[in-house]
Amino acid sequence: MATIGVFDSGIGGLTVLNEALRQAPSHHYVYLADSANAPYGEKSSDWVAARSLDLCHWLVREGCQALIIACNTATAEAIAHIRHEMPAIPIIGIEPGVKPAVHKSQNHKIGVLATQNTLKSDKFKALLDGLEGLGHDCKLITQAGSGLVPLIESGALNAPETEALLREHLAPMQAAEIDTLVLGCTHYPFLAPLIKKIIGTEVEIIDTSEAVVKQLCRKLEEHHLLQSAPPRIIHLYSTLDAEGLLAHAKQLIPAAFEQHSVQTSTVFIS
Ligand code: DGL
Repeated sequence: MATIGVFDSGIGGLTVLNEALRQAPSHHYVYLADSANAPYGEKSSDWVAARSLDLCHWLVREGCQALIIACNTATAEAIAHIRHEMPAIPIIGIEPGVKPAVHKSQNHKIGVLATQNTLKSDKFKALLDGLEGLGHDCKLITQAGSGLVPLIESGALNAPETEALLREHLAPMQAAEIDTLVLGCTHYPFLAPLIKKIIGTEVEIIDTSEAVVKQLCRKLEEHHLLQSAPPRIIHLYSTLDAEGLLAHAKQLIPAAFEQHSVQTSTVFIS
């Protein structure tokens, strides 16, 4: 059994944890939500990089043998630095699924909804540069989902203000007639029902959690950490309110409670 650390600025990474539990249930998961500091999407790059490294060190001190940075923003700002500082630990990041979108789109009009930091990062620019070799001439409409993460953190998944803000963010993509929408922030899959209500079910939604967990399994195998023995425990840590995190998890990822025992703690990480 491996102990796998998963962190995000808040509850967004639960979408990745959910997929990890589906594909690789036989592990001990430590989930860390830095909700005291969410959102990361508009904080300075240096702050996000330093904080992300601190959280990774904390997870390793808690016994994690592999890490998932379940946050597009932290991956964009910090993964290279974290891998450099922690060379012995398999570290898996997440980035907007632009490449699969290019392969799926029929009309070559693709929307990317992500945080401001992700969209302006060098990593995202490099991702776009890499598309040139794919031979498709795609039109990409990028949009920062400003304001969405605090609403999701507060549980307002179906609130009128969330719908109004989402309509605003999606309007330029609808005007451009996208047929594929990349969710480039791990919080956004929780808005999928509302997104479908606004843009219609015929627009393909791309979420990269599945690919991220496949990569986790490959890395665990490489490091001989893949096993299938119990005990199966999930420890949910929040830097703000573990009970709140537990309530979100019960509602958003009920699968977590089927085969694992769940523990919670609120932690202060300086
Ligand atoms: N869940 C995050 C991401 O994937 C972070 C969003 C935020 O904190 O702004 O980018």
